[in-house]
Amino acid sequence: MSGAGVPEGTGVPAGAGGLPVGDGVRRVAVIGAGPGGLYFAALAKKLAPHREITVWERDDRDDAFGFGVVFSDETLDGIAQADPQVFAALSAEFARWSDIDVRYAGQVRTCGGHGFAALDRNRLRAVLQERCAELGVAVRYRTPAPPVARLAAEYDLVVAADGVRSATRAAFAEAFRPELDERHCRYIWLATDKVFEAFTFIVEQHDFGALQVHAYPYSERRSTFIVEIAEEAWRKAGFDALAGRESRRGESDLASVRRCEQLLAGHLDGHRLIPNASRWIRFTTVRNASWHHRNVVLLGDAAHTAHFSIGSGTKLALEDALALAAALHEQPVLEHALTAYETGRRPVVESAQRAAQASLEWFETVGRHTGQGAGQFAFNLLTRSRRVTYGNLRARDAAFVDSVDADFADADLADTTNGNATNGNAPGGDATSPGGAGVPPMFRPLRLGGLQLRNRIVVPPLATFTAVDGLPSGFDRAQLAAQALGGAGLVFTGMTAVSAQGRATERCPGLWSDAQEAAWRALVRSVRELGDTPLGIQLTHAGRRAASTVPGPDGIGHPLADGWPALAASPLPWEPAGPPPREAGAAELAGVAADFAAAAARADRAGFDVLGLQFGHGHLVSGFLSPLTNHRTDRYGGPLEHRLRLALEVLDAVRAAWPAGKPIVVRISAADWAPGGTTEAEAVAICRALAAAGADALDVSTGEVVAHQRVPYGRGYQVPFADLVRNATGIPTVAVGAISGHDDANSVLLAGRADLVAVGRAQLYDPLWTLHAAAEQGYAGPGARWPQPWQAGSRRPPGPGADRVAPRLRLLPEAAAPVHRRWLPDRPDDQPPERAPARPADRPGRKTTEPAPN
Ligand SMILES: Cc1cc2nc3c(=O)[nH]c(=O)nc-3n(C[C@H](O)[C@H](O)[C@H](O)COP(=O)(O)OP(=O)(O)OC[C@H]3O[C@@H](n4cnc5c(N)ncnc54)[C@H](O)[C@@H]3O)c2cc1C
Ligand SMILES: Cc1cc2nc3c(=O)[nH]c(=O)nc-3n(C[C@H](O)[C@H](O)[C@H](O)COP(=O)(O)O)c2cc1C
Repeated sequence: MSGAGVPEGTGVPAGAGGLPVGDGVRRVAVIGAGPGGLYFAALAKKLAPHREITVWERDDRDDAFGFGVVFSDETLDGIAQADPQVFAALSAEFARWSDIDVRYAGQVRTCGGHGFAALDRNRLRAVLQERCAELGVAVRYRTPAPPVARLAAEYDLVVAADGVRSATRAAFAEAFRPELDERHCRYIWLATDKVFEAFTFIVEQHDFGALQVHAYPYSERRSTFIVEIAEEAWRKAGFDALAGRESRRGESDLASVRRCEQLLAGHLDGHRLIPNASRWIRFTTVRNASWHHRNVVLLGDAAHTAHFSIGSGTKLALEDALALAAALHEQPVLEHALTAYETGRRPVVESAQRAAQASLEWFETVGRHTGQGAGQFAFNLLTRSRRVTYGNLRARDAAFVDSVDADFADADLADTTNGNATNGNAPGGDATSPGGAGVPPMFRPLRLGGLQLRNRIVVPPLATFTAVDGLPSGFDRAQLAAQALGGAGLVFTGMTAVSAQGRATERCPGLWSDAQEAAWRALVRSVRELGDTPLGIQLTHAGRRAASTVPGPDGIGHPLADGWPALAASPLPWEPAGPPPREAGAAELAGVAADFAAAAARADRAGFDVLGLQFGHGHLVSGFLSPLTNHRTDRYGGPLEHRLRLALEVLDAVRAAWPAGKPIVVRISAADWAPGGTTEAEAVAICRALAAAGADALDVSTGEVVAHQRVPYGRGYQVPFADLVRNATGIPTVAVGAISGHDDANSVLLAGRADLVAVGRAQLYDPLWTLHAAAEQGYAGPGARWPQPWQAGSRRPPGPGADRVAPRLRLLPEAAAPVHRRWLPDRPDDQPPERAPARPADRPGRKTTEPAPN
């Protein structure tokens, strides 16, 4: 198709997709000689030497920006088998180490076992440039690429590796549908001649706010040093005035560099910060709905970016290059090759972007955690992206996790009196917890109000929709019994209505009549006979979500065709075509509070230990809290303090009817996932007010407030809200939502993101989830009590092949990789090593050693 005409519209040949690759993709144009473009060109040429590949680069061959790039072992394996020659050349340059140092609050915490390799970005480019030259790729330096439409017409394939500000992406914005998300922090990319021994995170609290550094060595003489700071702190520190000075393109903001040098002098030991076209910028996360359009394909930063705090964009660009070259080789038709490239890479990139998003948000809100102890802070930082977990870290460096575990057990519980929940253990926790180090955080006890919980796992409200006439069913009893036997520290019933009108569905139980109270009392008594697991009941008035169908697989009910009239803050139907609810009058609201109080008194008499209040998920009270569903102009609507009124009236009434020593747990929706919904600041204010009015814990859920929500579901996606509330209010929080594994539960608790973890669907899948988690972790203490009749099953059954004994096949024992490996190259005379002298070298001039204990 070379030389095909340019059709109207995008300017890209319409028939490009159907060409066979073997013969059809002979001429390839690559825009950009960054790492992505060069590596693709080299691999594509290596696989098909007859191909004519031309790379355009607007900068000179030796123009250089950026400093070091880091790779994980996984990426290195890919490079090693794709092109051993490139790998060999790169390996000779690598700085290698395995430790991460977290410098925080005047202390250093080190975690080993990670495995990093880094090198100078410009050496990487030089190696790739040489490889391209060797293979016969034509690279035109100092030559801006011709317009992409022309290239697309003249070449069989155009690879746009033109970086984060890709002009190709902009030219075909309608086809690629890019989304550019510019983030809140400022950062400046620098180097230093201080050679760090490990990946080093520095978080310092200054009078203007937190200042953080991401630093890592990349040669015998240099480290990358990225300084990051939240916008507000950046202004308060006066960086805006320094950055605002006139400068030419490519010039560094030297005044800011010097100021960073002063502020971070304690970590630089007299060394300099070295700029290279370094200015304060904001990170932009790039996403594209499509990465290819006819015969034009995006690669590297042009297609996607991932925040620098989880590793370099260079790694993703190189992996893209490998995948695209492989797809062209394997797929006979160009369109299929480009689809295969995108289909293969997209989930990997999106997974990296999810981790990067969690990580960048963690750094954006780092001030939330700067009250934590050094060990917990380090653990929190290391597990911020949710990719690294309690279990991963334990496998990498058990001593590090043990020390954080021990801090967690020993945390100063006196803090509860001043409401500070940031100092390790939970407010109200039990300092005399059994076990000591080695007890997984989920099996630590917790005191909630007057109640002692044996562990940190909760079965959240899980409605069964099996009630008739508001009476709990046999299945409700079976579910509560199974879950009470399953080991969780606290088990809730599903939502239970305080009035007939407040039922979400016809199949929901209630607690407004004597018959219902008697049925619940009998049910609680029968479950009590099985064990002493604390039982909670969730009370609700479903508001505009009342009179719905039993939810389908999406978990959402729809208005019944012949339902009863619903009550709400404002007459807004749940679905546009649904029946509008009636706006509640003040007298009716007083009646609702009284219904809650009466149901609470009945729940106490029925024998429940904990009261849950459903103030989330768009039920009546939630509908008053959210600005999206409360359009009132009376004293229940408008500003937040008015929208809070019903919640506080209900809580006051309930608190008066419910015994003082028994805890109340309030569930809220901390976000509505729709524009104009509850903000983070409002969620914090709501939780503060609920805590002041007598809530003992907050169960922090999100969503289900409006039908047009767009929820970013994913593992632990609601945890940041529990974290926000816990660290802002100091009262215990329950994290919930797609927390399915004990490893994640332990991570959430040990990092101080929540005090309790609610596991819902996973405990429907396996009602013995908690006991099985204990068996899998080899824990057999008071935090996980097997029912006596089931003791014989309390050990994990042997799996298939468990009786096979492997013979010894090694003559000499395999040397275990050291947990701690630091980068300690031979240093020039003027730079003495800070730590103990190095052990025997890996290879001449590169040494690693065990670190001094910190
Ligand atoms: C200031 C800064 C410093 C950085 N430092 C580091 C670092 O130290 N370590 C690290 O891992 N990552 C660093 N990054 C990120 C890193 O550069 C990218 O993630 C990575 O290089 C992506 O590779 P790429 O090949 O997709 O794009 P790039 O490396 O950005 O390459 C794109 C290339 O395309 C060229 N180009 C663009 N348009 C045209 C055109 N029309 N014609 C011809 N040529 C064109 C550009 O000149 C550039 O060379 C840095 C980024 C910035 C902004
Ligand atoms: C079958 C089912 C019933 C539920 N019933 C309730 C309920 O009655 N009240 C409530 O607040 N949440 C209810 N939820 C939401 C859960 O309590 C929990 O917040 C949600 O399932 C997310 O946790 P998970 O990902 O661990 O399942 C229900 C969820 C499911 C799957």
